[in-house]
Amino acid sequence: MNELYYGDNLDVLREKIPDGSVDLIYLDPPFNSQRSYNVIFKDKSGRQPASQVDAFEDTWRWTPNTGKIFDELIHLDYASHQLKQLMLAFKQFLSTSDMMAYLTMMAIRLVELHKRLKGTGGLYLHCDSTASHYLKILLDHIFGIQNYRNEIIWKRTLGHHLSTKSFDRMNDTILFYSKGEKYTFHSQYEELSEDEINEKFPHIESETGRRFTHEKLEQSSNAYSKGEVRIIQGKKVISNLGWRWQQDTFYTRLAENPYLIYWTKKGRPRYKRYADEYLGRKYGNLWDDLMPMGSQDRERQGYQTQKTVALMERIIKASSNEDDTVLDPFCGCGTTIIAAEMLGRRWIGIDITYYAVGLVKDRLSKFTNVQYTETGIPKSYEDAVQLAKTSKFQFEAWAVYALVKGQPFKSKGGGDTGIDGFLYFTDYERKHHKVIIEVKGGDYKPKDIRALKQVMDREGSPLGLIIALEEPTRGMIAEAAGMGRWKLPGGRTDYPVLQIYTIKNYFDKLKPDIPDTSGTLQEAKKLIRGKDKHPKLPGIG
Ligand SMILES: C[S@@+](CC[C@H](N)C(=O)[O-])C[C@H]1O[C@@H](n2cnc3c(N)ncnc32)[C@H](O)[C@@H]1O
Repeated sequence: MNELYYGDNLDVLREKIPDGSVDLIYLDPPFNSQRSYNVIFKDKSGRQPASQVDAFEDTWRWTPNTGKIFDELIHLDYASHQLKQLMLAFKQFLSTSDMMAYLTMMAIRLVELHKRLKGTGGLYLHCDSTASHYLKILLDHIFGIQNYRNEIIWKRTLGHHLSTKSFDRMNDTILFYSKGEKYTFHSQYEELSEDEINEKFPHIESETGRRFTHEKLEQSSNAYSKGEVRIIQGKKVISNLGWRWQQDTFYTRLAENPYLIYWTKKGRPRYKRYADEYLGRKYGNLWDDLMPMGSQDRERQGYQTQKTVALMERIIKASSNEDDTVLDPFCGCGTTIIAAEMLGRRWIGIDITYYAVGLVKDRLSKFTNVQYTETGIPKSYEDAVQLAKTSKFQFEAWAVYALVKGQPFKSKGGGDTGIDGFLYFTDYERKHHKVIIEVKGGDYKPKDIRALKQVMDREGSPLGLIIALEEPTRGMIAEAAGMGRWKLPGGRTDYPVLQIYTIKNYFDKLKPDIPDTSGTLQEAKKLIRGKDKHPKLPGIG
């Protein structure tokens, strides 16, 4: 069964994934770049996105927890002595820097991941030049130097606009290691266009109509050895060079296919290569043929670090077979999962951000018949209470996205703006509006309702929604009702200016009373440009 987990991959790996159970691991962890790692959501408003969420801002900072993990790693019985020595050496010169925090968090996870791989398995670690040199040493010590397979250079951008003081950094690095000496690997080939094929295979066999080219049968003269064959026509030795085949092999092959040999006008034999047997141009480790995600790409989910399905397909096809299990412990919006599903592999995805997991679920819903288990995602009111206790931020993000498909929001500075999310909709006059969402995981009072109204006025927003874990008191219901109703311009429907929607309502399958917000601004703009003369309104869904 496929598995989707919402949570920290370290916990999930330790608690849920058995040792030696996975064929292929791809991981694309947040890079240790200087900027705080933000998940920037699709900007439906057309303005610079206020909708940014620091999903795991402290993950790569040295905190008491990092210190604890470092100590744990040094005492872990299944981490090798060499790795421990390496980590101690890193610590000497990197001290408690961000880089050391990053390497500590990565090392413990890589040790666990290595343990989960089958003997024939492989791991691909996606990173960039910020940390790839450290990560390679780390992997050398976890997988063994002899199991290093490739450093893949993926050209991830076409843009030339980043730096005037150095060459633009245009690639990511993907480090590939196998667990052992015998591992799954299938070479991948680039298919050629018809014109390229015709150029490469210029001849047509008159007897069969097959397209072919021919190449010399001899190996280089260095390869000549006594026992090897000369092809003899009549009694004449036509070459002194070494040959591709032993004499017996030559005659066997010729018996199998009498057209195998192309004889030149001078009577020299040449070996035929057929276009219909050609697999394509073999890929090396420089991947500059896979286009980066374009702004208009259909697969684009608006998840900032989303990779392309084509990239994942190449990795999955090369290093797994059908029905194998592919694990992505930092799965983001699920690119690996989608590619694995399309290629008939089993998959396990883990992410710590609900927005990411929600996007994975949405993407999977477009397939017919995908079966998977979900773990960590609140399935009941009690689960939601538990999530609110574990992480206020994750609870808010879950409530905004899972309950009403809103865009979670957290101000850049982290201060409380009274806004936890937005929803967008379009009225009958084709004007865009937003609903301001505030999530309350604990106590809330009538004054919170008045405060939200002030935020709405400040933001020019006609509607507000409080999503609350606890049921509102009568006083609060009255306070919200007192804010009145708002009529959708150009239509007859009206909506409560401010309403309270509870987690219980959600699990009781009730919906908030708001306009249809299922469309995006891009769609709205299209409608406005007159591409669709009969839009379905209200909303643009
Ligand atoms: C670079 S993104 C992955 C993007 C992904 N390859 C895609 O195509 O969408 C890194 C992801 O790691 C997740 N993440 C960070 N720390 C994590 C942790 N400790 N456990 C699980 N997921 C984590 C983040 O939420 C983020 O979605």
